[in-house]
Amino acid sequence: MKIFGLALPVLILFAAGSVARAAGPDLAEAKDNYMTFCVKCHGATGQGNGPAAATLHTKPRNYTDCALMAKIPDDTLFKAIKDGGASVGLSPEMPSWSKGFDDDEIRGLVAYVRTFCKK
Ligand code: HEC
Repeated sequence: MKIFGLALPVLILFAAGSVARAAGPDLAEAKDNYMTFCVKCHGATGQGNGPAAATLHTKPRNYTDCALMAKIPDDTLFKAIKDGGASVGLSPEMPSWSKGFDDDEIRGLVAYVRTFCKK
């Protein structure tokens, strides 16, 4: 029964993973990624005022502006992160992250960016 002893925990982990996935994006992981890779331009509060923003030609938008954010669909945010700003007609200073994050992680980042607008 050695095999069973190993297989069962693996199965449970796998099932737990699927449940977490079905529950939507992992916001804690997304926050980690944002604070590591995005904060220098977009700022810790999402207002587009990170320390590197001053050197950019186009300042990142203010994600706390709910009226503005309501006009931008998730698909556009997703594409901007995955393929870079230029792919959605924005500044090419927004890099493409397709090599850094998989689609689930990018969906997480989209959800995290949305949290800056507090209604
Ligand atoms: C080098 C600075 C820089 C870094 C690093 C950066 N961004 Fe950007 N980002 C920008 C700029 C500049 C824009 C374009 C703003 C514009 O043209 O209005 C932008 C645009 C975006 C947009 C498009 C939405 C919109 O309409 O404003 C999203 C979403 C976004 N960034 C998310 C992220 C995420 C998530 C990360 C980290 C994985 C990240 N950015 C890293 C500078 C950066």
